[in-house]
Amino acid sequence: MRKFAGMVALGAVALLLAGAGKAVDRGEPVGDFSLIDHLGKFHQLSRYADHEAVVLFAHVRGGRDSNRALAAYNELVEAFAGRNVAFFVLDSSGETGKSAVGRDAGRNGVGVPVLMDDTGLVAKALGLGNAAEVAILDPERRESLFRGVINDRFAAEDPSRRASRHYATDALGQILASGASDAPMLASGGAAIAFKPAPAISYAEDIVPILERRCVSCHTEGGIAPFAMSSHQIVRGWSPMIREVLYTKRMPPGQIDNDYVHDFKDVSHITIEETQTLVQWIDDGADFAGGEDPLPGLQPEQVKWSHGEPDLVLPIPAQQIPATGIQDYRNIMVPLPIEEDIWVRAVEFEAGDPTVLHHIIAFAYGPDGLNEFEVLNQGIGLGAYAPGNEINTYPEGAGFPLKAGGGLFLQMHYTTSGRETIDASEVALYLWDEEPERVVLGGSAAEFDIDIAPFSRQEMTATKTFRADSYLSMLGPHMHFRGFDARFRLTYPNGESAQLLNVPNYQFNWQKTYDFKAPLFVPAGSVLKFSGTFDNTAMNPFNPDPSDTLSWGEQSWQEMFFGFIRYVEAEPGEASD
Ligand code: HEC
Repeated sequence: MRKFAGMVALGAVALLLAGAGKAVDRGEPVGDFSLIDHLGKFHQLSRYADHEAVVLFAHVRGGRDSNRALAAYNELVEAFAGRNVAFFVLDSSGETGKSAVGRDAGRNGVGVPVLMDDTGLVAKALGLGNAAEVAILDPERRESLFRGVINDRFAAEDPSRRASRHYATDALGQILASGASDAPMLASGGAAIAFKPAPAISYAEDIVPILERRCVSCHTEGGIAPFAMSSHQIVRGWSPMIREVLYTKRMPPGQIDNDYVHDFKDVSHITIEETQTLVQWIDDGADFAGGEDPLPGLQPEQVKWSHGEPDLVLPIPAQQIPATGIQDYRNIMVPLPIEEDIWVRAVEFEAGDPTVLHHIIAFAYGPDGLNEFEVLNQGIGLGAYAPGNEINTYPEGAGFPLKAGGGLFLQMHYTTSGRETIDASEVALYLWDEEPERVVLGGSAAEFDIDIAPFSRQEMTATKTFRADSYLSMLGPHMHFRGFDARFRLTYPNGESAQLLNVPNYQFNWQKTYDFKAPLFVPAGSVLKFSGTFDNTAMNPFNPDPSDTLSWGEQSWQEMFFGFIRYVEAEPGEASD
């Protein structure tokens, strides 16, 4: 029997969803979640709290009648155009290719974002089991207000030949009018969502290896994360939070669009399967069958320098950081103790007190002292530190020259932590034995003319043209608290273009730079476009004050717009295809 048994009166009356096999209250809380859409844009339920409702429509690509159901949904969307409602299609077909999903949406006239629920976890959490089901959520209280088939044409039981009762439309109309609905919530006869069958999950054999691969490097004693995943008991205690950070894609931190994960080194990532396994295990009670807990033995050894013993370690003069208050950037010159010019092949930073050290950018100056123009041309100089981004490596055969008599010019940014402290950080240099073939160059696609209105969202773009054939080795988006997303696209001289990187959920706290696994050949005349969105609305949880008008500035509550790059010039005549 597939009918959702039960009648609903307005108010908090429990409703039995026999079809979903689960009893649900009207107003059942739904957890926060984040998904990427078919265009690579980021959506998080809690960031729609200023909408009256969030509506999701379960779509199974290629499912019987799925496209017809989509047409009915398009009508629903149209009927409420102009209302403060966020509409989405939820693609739970198991498809991971955004372009296929996008084409399908285009063919079916879908004008709203199609959310890539590639783990199926959101459909599952919302109790959506079949195509043609609609969920209507109160995004502020994060409650489910309606869940059922869109109309009687797609009902599991006694479907009518033509849609005559539009349950979801009725429900949304009522919800917008009164905050609640008594529209019938019926099971859908649409294609079933192919959830992955839940396998038996072993803590020791399945869960621990995932944690070791994806989490423990930071979540260890003395690591940068607030708790160490050092035993089953601890992981289990944290499991509700772990579930939440997986649903919202907050952890592992600094995730990028899956499409680009394999192009860059050391990308923070967790696979669809790993996510499903962790969440399933947590939903099943986060148990451990017993035996010896392998996790305590897997704590990574804390090595100070990840690339081995550095050739040169430069202590940065200790900095006194007060307990509170805003810290101006500190510009510190550290002379180099060298008699001859050297060539750097990698730079690593060791934060003295990671709770206050927000970032370091290391530039070089020569024996004649600091030349502002030269510094600006260095992009992010030799390299930058931010939590989770300690090491900067250069392409094979390329070095950054440092002159005898010169030194490092360090731009240091601190944020106060409520506790007075001293930060004594260090910079380590790894050197080439002899002059390498190529010089590491830096630069950026940047926009300094920033003017963002209060309570607004704004797109911005900046470009950089390559004058010579080059190999691009690093991309580093940089914005401040209002940074929402960031993308890099390269347009070749022949007019073709390709997106190189999409950071859908840019986070100021994680200043990531992305090193290509294989540097990308860029012919002279190519244009790199850096684009991004600022979110100066109250829906941005990092926004210190949405009523501010923003202009360019060094402090976190002002804004910046830099698409940093690192590259080397190609030898004359050298070109890959
Ligand atoms: C690159 C380092 C890093 C990795 C890898 C990492 N974390 Fe974290 N994690 C942090 C830091 C730092 C914080 C605290 C700051 C924050 O919440 O952003 C944190 C916070 C958390 C929290 C607490 C959130 C809260 O609000 O209290 C949970 C839960 C968590 N991480 C789970 C995970 C899981 C699960 C993984 C692996 C899938 C993981 N983390 C991987 C660094 C990391």
